[in-house]
Amino acid sequence: MTTKPGINIAIDGYSSTGKSTLAKSLAASLGYRYIDTGAMYRAVTLFALRNGLIDQNNDSVINENIAQRIEPEVKLMFRFNPEKNLSEIYLNNENVEDEIRKMEVARHVSSIAAISGIRRFLVKQQQAMAREKRVVMDGRDIGTVVLPEAELKIFMTASEEVRVERRFKELQAKGQQVTKEEVARNISERDYKDTSREDSPLKRAKDALLLDNSDLTPSEQLEVVLGWVRENI
Ligand code: DC
Repeated sequence: MTTKPGINIAIDGYSSTGKSTLAKSLAASLGYRYIDTGAMYRAVTLFALRNGLIDQNNDSVINENIAQRIEPEVKLMFRFNPEKNLSEIYLNNENVEDEIRKMEVARHVSSIAAISGIRRFLVKQQQAMAREKRVVMDGRDIGTVVLPEAELKIFMTASEEVRVERRFKELQAKGQQVTKEEVARNISERDYKDTSREDSPLKRAKDALLLDNSDLTPSEQLEVVLGWVRENI
């Protein structure tokens, strides 16, 4: 399906609700660009970990001026990988797509994402990427802050049990040694931090359509959303 001149689609929701699965398949069906904003927060977190800016014992940010340090030193870019048929994130020209998915990064990303200076730095780049439209962007504040004018906004949720199971399987498939309890703890801690932070907390935009995919397969949910897209263009 191709559309002209095109719309922007904002997808928000809790951790591990399958936002990126939906966003990728939706972008592929529409011939749109997929932008994974979580990958940007993760890449900044990786930079902070590598540069000793986070105290790993108590998950606190060590450098108070972290945003000023990050802005000139961190260059993020998405590049399309034709072999995998998807975009991958580069941190200062290094492909960090695998590194940023590790538990080590997941443990600290919500603390980094709570820092206003870092959010401003990334939001500016996200808005620039969507200026030409035809973008599917997923995250936590896309419908509320990054693209409040998006033509279609979706808020995703799924039962906690389903989310833990999905993320556990994903990490296991990548060979990471984690227990289900660790995954459950990480998901609920991130939900708490993402919804309770002062700057741009995760919340459903007033005009966002709710998608609970606890009992939907990826192709069923894609069908539902393609129906919403048709109504919006
Ligand atoms: O979608 P994800 O799990 O890869 O996101 C990683 C973290 O980044 C998540 O815990 C919250 C934060 N995030 C955010 O605050 N705002 C966004 N637009 C995207 C992600």
